[in-house]
Amino acid sequence: MGPEIAGSSLELLRAKVLHNEYPPGYLPKRSTQAMIPLPYLEAELPAIEAYLATFEQ
Ligand code: HEM
Repeated sequence: MGPEIAGSSLELLRAKVLHNEYPPGYLPKRSTQAMIPLPYLEAELPAIEAYLATFEQ
């Protein structure tokens, strides 16, 4: 349902997953606002970043 997120930075994950925002100057892959914030994942974000870094981009 969402765009490709392989290789997403921790900065991007923090902004989007926790606050449904994007880092300053970042161009989103889509202009929609369909994803809900998932703030309970805060402690997991470094692990999610590491996992997403394992995929080819
Ligand atoms: C651990 C769970 C999730 C992570 C790490 C994640 C991560 C991201 C990131 C980083 C983006 C921004 C991509 C970019 O523009 O570069 C994004 C966008 C998006 N995600 Fe997620 N996401 C998660 C869960 C979900 C879920 C559960 C849904 C839908 C049910 C979803 C739907 C979308 C959609 C539709 C977008 C495009 C922008 C928008 O409409 O909000 N994501 N996601």
